[in-house]
Amino acid sequence: MTSLKLKIYQSLEAAPNIHPERSEIELSGFSGARVLLIREGASPAFIRKISATPAGNARLQAQAIKQKLTAGLLDGCATTPHILDEGYEGDLYYFDMEYIHGLDGISFLRTASFPAIARFTEKLCRSLERFASLQDPALQVSPRESALAKCREILAATPAVDIRSHRSITRLMEVIEASEMPEALAVTACHGDMTLENIVVTEAGEIVFIDLLDTFFNHWMADIAKLDQDLKAGWYMRKSQPLPLGVVSYVRKSLTALAETLSAGSPHFIALVVCIHLARILPYAKVSDDRQFVLDRLDFLLEQVMPGDLFEKGLHT
Ligand SMILES: Nc1ncnc2c1ncn2[C@@H]1O[C@H](COP(=O)(O)OP(=O)(O)O)[C@@H](O)[C@H]1O
Ligand SMILES: [Mg+2]
Repeated sequence: MTSLKLKIYQSLEAAPNIHPERSEIELSGFSGARVLLIREGASPAFIRKISATPAGNARLQAQAIKQKLTAGLLDGCATTPHILDEGYEGDLYYFDMEYIHGLDGISFLRTASFPAIARFTEKLCRSLERFASLQDPALQVSPRESALAKCREILAATPAVDIRSHRSITRLMEVIEASEMPEALAVTACHGDMTLENIVVTEAGEIVFIDLLDTFFNHWMADIAKLDQDLKAGWYMRKSQPLPLGVVSYVRKSLTALAETLSAGSPHFIALVVCIHLARILPYAKVSDDRQFVLDRLDFLLEQVMPGDLFEKGLHT
């Protein structure tokens, strides 16, 4: 969300409700669902997330279920907004959840004191560690196959005239094929879309995860890769000014150290997943600046994760 929008709805939230019956403000509507901040009389404000199309109902329903389940899994580390209600508006599914007073991850990292950032990072790492500990050994996936299947899907959705995107995605597939990685990994609990925008930090320093999803690779490594899409590839910068370098490097170092502890060699695999996350944006990048940004970062990161590098350092689980 832009800082202007944030300011608008923070002031709306703080102001007395001049519409005693009901007021709504649209926070987002670009990701297949509309997000509304709703106030009704003197009741506390709440958020309604409504599918934009009937075809999107199942995905949003799955989000509500994952949001409920994840709160239980993360007990003591972080939480998710309580779901208050769910239903249909016409043929569109919606769910209502508590409105979390706080800052999104980007605003928090920009404004918080260093001790607060250190506590945030510690909680983030504990949440990821918890996810990693919740494995399903019966559900094994091939990281290579999942990654390649996703790349094929991205390639098919990218117009053939976009030669540069095709070249970069093909190069990414070559690197995935040539890289050393485990043949199978157990699926773990995960957020599924752990961007800085999808983290709310309350005044008490509590981490609240929003906008949870199932993704092509349900694994804690994919969550770290999503954070790195912001922290390493700077995706958040299309809407916000850069964060202080020292802060970015502190959070990244902590995440990389955690990844290495949880699974030796995983930071190199995570670097590849960052590339896939970036490539996924290409078919949806309507603005040419966005496409340019993604391709520049993708090509740059691909240079850094040449297969030789992976072979040299090895990837063990
Ligand atoms: N429960 C909530 N409490 C406070 N803000 C929220 C809540 N849910 C969503 N938001 C705000 O709305 C924005 C969009 O919601 P999100 O669920 O992430 O939808 P999208 O799928 O469009 O990214 C979030 O980035 C956040 O700023
Ligand atoms: Mg979101």
